[in-house]
Parts: sequence; C-alpha cells; structure tokens
Amino acid sequence: MRTYILYSLLGTLFFSFYSCKNKEEEKNADVTAISEISFFKEPYRPQFHFSPTEMWMNDPNGLVYNDGIYHLFYQYYPEDIVWGPMHWGHATSKNLVYWEHKPIALFPDENGYIFSGSAVLDQMNTSGLGSRETPPLVAIFTYHNREREEDGSDDFQTQGIAYSLDNGESWIKYQDNPVLGNEGIRDFRDPKVFWHEPTQSWILVLVAGDRAQFYRSADLIAWTFLSEFGKETGAHGGVWECPDLFPLEVSGLGEEKWVLIISINPGAPNGGSGTQYFIGEFDGTTFKSDQQEEKWIDWGTDNYAGITYNNAPNNQRIFIGWMSNWAYARDTPTKEWRSAMTVPRSLSLIKSGNSYQLANYPLDNFGTIFKSEIKKNLKLAAGSSETVPFDHYNQAEIEFKTTSRNFEFSFSNSLGEELVLILDRDQELFLLDRSKSGKTSFKEEFAKDVQKMPVANMPEGEIEFRILMDWSSIEVFINNGQYVMTAQIFPNQNYTSLNFRNPATSVLSIDNLEVSRAESIW
Ligand code: FRU
Repeated sequence: MRTYILYSLLGTLFFSFYSCKNKEEEKNADVTAISEISFFKEPYRPQFHFSPTEMWMNDPNGLVYNDGIYHLFYQYYPEDIVWGPMHWGHATSKNLVYWEHKPIALFPDENGYIFSGSAVLDQMNTSGLGSRETPPLVAIFTYHNREREEDGSDDFQTQGIAYSLDNGESWIKYQDNPVLGNEGIRDFRDPKVFWHEPTQSWILVLVAGDRAQFYRSADLIAWTFLSEFGKETGAHGGVWECPDLFPLEVSGLGEEKWVLIISINPGAPNGGSGTQYFIGEFDGTTFKSDQQEEKWIDWGTDNYAGITYNNAPNNQRIFIGWMSNWAYARDTPTKEWRSAMTVPRSLSLIKSGNSYQLANYPLDNFGTIFKSEIKKNLKLAAGSSETVPFDHYNQAEIEFKTTSRNFEFSFSNSLGEELVLILDRDQELFLLDRSKSGKTSFKEEFAKDVQKMPVANMPEGEIEFRILMDWSSIEVFINNGQYVMTAQIFPNQNYTSLNFRNPATSVLSIDNLEVSRAESIW
C-alpha cells in the first residue's frame, strides 16, 4: 500500500510537469487533444496509448477516415469497469497520435446490444441514407439480443446499420434493422465492410462460428451470401471473431495479395485471445489461400480483435488492436477505466522464399512524441551484465541493434520487480517473462507461462529492436515489425533500469542504443 501511495505521488508530480509542457506544444502543433488532463494521471494510465476516460472498453470498431478525421469507435460499457451491455464509444484524431474523446455514438436498442463492426464512407450515396452532396458515414455492427439468447434460440446475433450525416458527430439507426438476419448460427458477428472496386459493390465479411462468410451488396442494406472460408484451415482452438479483409502490395515486388485477419478466442499461441491471418486471393466472391501454417500478427498475449481503417489516405493499411486478452481482461488492476488500444500500426507484406509475412509497425506519426535522452554503444564481455538507468522507462521508446544471437535484457525497479526479455536463437525463440514484472496475481492466467515467439526464420546478422513502453504495456518490434510481441504489465513502481546480460561465451555488442522519453498525448 505504501509503495502504491508513493507511486501515485511520483506519478502525479511527473504527469503534472509533462502535462503543462505538452499543453503548450499541443497548441503549437494545432492538434486535437482532450483538455481534461486531470483524468489521465491515475496509476497505470497509458500516456501515449488510447484509453477511454472511464469504464470498460474492448474491441476497436468502425475504423474509418473521412474529411481529415480518423474515427475510432470501440466496444464500451459506460456503467462499469467490466463488460456489460455494449455501446459504441467514440474518439477522433487528426493524426492518430492525439485523440479527442467524443460522446457515445451508438446505444443498445430493442434489437440488442451493439457488438463489434465497421464503418464506411458511402461516397456515392448507394444506400440513399444521405445525398451526393452529403455522403453518409455508415456503421455496420452486430446486434446481440440478450433475451433471445436467454430463451435458448440460436439466432440472437444479427447485423444492423446506422448512419451519420455530420462526419460521425451524431448517428441515426436505420429504421428497418436488422439488415442481415440470422438463420441459426450462434456466433454470427463482427461485420467488416469495404468497397470492392473491381465488382463495384460492397463486400461484407463476418464470422460464423468456426469460419468466415462473405456477402455482397449494392446499397449496404440488401446483402447476398457469396461464400465461406476457413472451416478446415488455420487455428481453431476457439471461436473466430473480428475478421478483416483487404489487398496489400508485397513490399518491393508490386505483387498484390489479399489478407484475411481473424481473431480467435481462446486458442492463441501464448494462451487466450490472439489474432491470426491468412494470405491469399479474393476475386470478389471467394477467398482462397494455400497457406499451410498458422500465422499470427502478434505473438504477445495482448493484441486482440484488431482491424484496419477504411478509406485511409495514401492507401495506407492502418491497424489498431485491443491491448488485452479475454483470459484476464476483466481482472486487470486498474480502477477508473479498463484497457487500452495498441498504438496504430502500419501493415506491410513481406515475401521471403515462397512465404508471405504480415509486418506491423508503429506509424511514422509517432516519431514526434519521442525525445531522445540517452545514446550509447555497449560491449559486454562473456558472462557480464550492464545497466542503463533512466527514470522514465514506463513512458519511453527504446531502440538498439545487435548481431548477437543469444542475450537477455530486462526492465526493473527498486522493488526488485523485473520484466525479462530473452533472445535465444539456439532454441529459435524470443521470450517475454512477466512473472516478476509487478502485479500478476489478479488472475492466474496472466503470468502463468513465459510468452514465446518463434524466430527460426529470422535472418542472421544484424537485427533491430524497437520497444514502446507505457505505464501498463510493452510493445516489442523486431526487424521493423516482422516479429512483434505486445503485453500488458503492472509494475508497482515505474521501471528505472534497463539491464543487458550476456550469457554467451563471446562479446555482446548492443549498438546505437537510444532511449527516448515519450511525451504524454493527453
Ligand atoms: C471480441 C468480441 C466480438 C464481439 C465483442 C463483444 O472481443 O467478443 O466478437 O462482437 O467482443 O463485446
């Protein structure tokens, strides 16, 4: 308890200092930011990740860009810090770095709770819900009807739409919801809709239990079933959720492939919830993939239900995930709010041999909030260790390069708490151990196992690390996002040491180590 009070006090002092500084800079940069910074000083409150002002949040929803504004809707329960009747919370940003919290966009109604879904700009007013002059934003979401579920019927999830004629400020539910009924599939949800140029139609992908289904529409209202994918492909340790489907050019090759993202819960490689993907072809009707192995966007435990922006400028494919895991999401030790989103990440496709890999890496926009504080090169003799002290690791970016194949590094504090990361190329693994990282006992699943990421295919030679650490999360990106691990952490005090250890028999060199302080976005 004493340490908790000390931590809050230090936190408050620390945050007030940076808040003042930021306010001025934010004004200068003409960015959108919430003014009620007092909300954002609580223990574990992320300082450069999106979190709701208060109460429960899960999946990102309705990611759409329109007229200079990035919209972020999210699964939200405004009355408690545990999951409950779902609404769509709402926030906007001009740059995906600074966010403005907005009023709740969608409330439950007689059709049910508002579960996950997407949003599109209906530029040609195909829906007739706006006009050519004022094209509507249309949100497509799942209605979850609790009464029908409790009655024992299987058709309690249907798809509905709502529209906005003022760029997301206010929303009107379509009068004849639902637009896509359910013929008795228990898990029938999370529609992602996009405009498919070659067929001049809207395509909707949703999950139906253990598979994805594809539908087509000319007007976002009448939907025709096209095909399904996945019953016998990929990971099936749990129910499929939150699909996304989009084309992506393979870096440097000019070749285009289609990517199908599927979240799965449970059944992730490190337990609980995780996000797999398939690389293949989509011809407007059918998705095909000859991928044999399971592929995961992120090997850490805390990146779930992620989807990408519709209509993003410059053809960018921008992904945001929910930084939690259903195995313990309801139990994490925050009081005023629960959970945060990953930083927005840019997706790219890499081909090596005959295999494709989906890399995800923080958007360039983020560079502006990191202020370099330490630059060093380290050389560690066999069996030795070295510590780099810094007061603000819990609000920092850490970068370095190395050619060493086996080494450890960790973040620790004066309470002896330690978050340990290990590259062990002899065992072809990168490991993240949060068992002594701080608070862990709120749920057994949280730190039961060391998290493992296979690195068998990682090229030999120099590898690059970039780590973003906030008050309750770490995001590790190796080789520009080819290998990614995201995990929540709850240290009882902020980490003040970065420790490198060399268990090998040769010298460990850590090159171009750079530690930058992250400014608060709030
Ligand atoms: C994924 C999910 C979705 C569902 C939503 C409900 O985390 O289970 O499938 O729409 O959360 O909040």
